[in-house]
Amino acid sequence: MQITIIVAMSENKIIGINNQIPWKLSTDMQFFKAQTTYQTIVMGRKTFDSLKKPLPNRNNWILTTQKDFLIEHINTNNENIYTTKIFHQVENILEEAQKQNIKNLFIIGGKQIYELFLPIATDLLITKVKANVAGDTIFPDFEVNLFTQKTIQVQEKNEKNEFDFEIISFEKNKNIDK
Ligand SMILES: NC(=O)c1ccc[n+]([C@@H]2O[C@H](COP(=O)([O-])OP(=O)(O)OC[C@H]3O[C@@H](n4cnc5c(N)ncnc54)[C@H](OP(=O)(O)O)[C@@H]3O)[C@@H](O)[C@H]2O)c1
Repeated sequence: MQITIIVAMSENKIIGINNQIPWKLSTDMQFFKAQTTYQTIVMGRKTFDSLKKPLPNRNNWILTTQKDFLIEHINTNNENIYTTKIFHQVENILEEAQKQNIKNLFIIGGKQIYELFLPIATDLLITKVKANVAGDTIFPDFEVNLFTQKTIQVQEKNEKNEFDFEIISFEKNKNIDK
């Protein structure tokens, strides 16, 4: 199974402020949507709070320590084949993903959830925002040398995108122990 971390960060590694994303990058949102639609996304409870409701046409898996955490939006539409599930342990997420034969599990944040999945991530899709911004949440350090990088999109600032950015894919090197 691929485990793909998807994140946008500034040059000073900021990913959030006041439980929101600190920029407006419409083209990056389109990229996020294209990558994650019809897939399974994993997020922390705080990121879920910031979204306010599950993202459509995706399985939304939410990690929380709260045993009684309930979401009123859970599967209210019977025609929606995508589900919203609550998890309390990373291991249970991995077990469920194996059980459902999921090919690519998308880890969409925030910081605490990236920290949990970085050691087992096979891929990262990082939007590097060409700015230094104020914020209260940063992307954790990771071993860049374990991955092969490729630039997959370059976008200049325009009326829909507040800053220049580029999207880089990081694929974990396979024969790292040999
Ligand atoms: N730039 C981006 O690409 C991007 C993407 C996503 C989010 N963000 C930003 O990141 C910020 C949120 O990040 P965050 O780190 O504060 O919060 P988070 O990772 O979204 O959620 C943290 C919550 O996850 C739960 N959790 C964490 N570890 C757990 C564990 N081991 N077991 C069970 N539950 C666990 C806890 O929920 P409970 O407190 O309910 O127990 C914890 O409070 C926001 O500003 C958001 O906008 C940015």
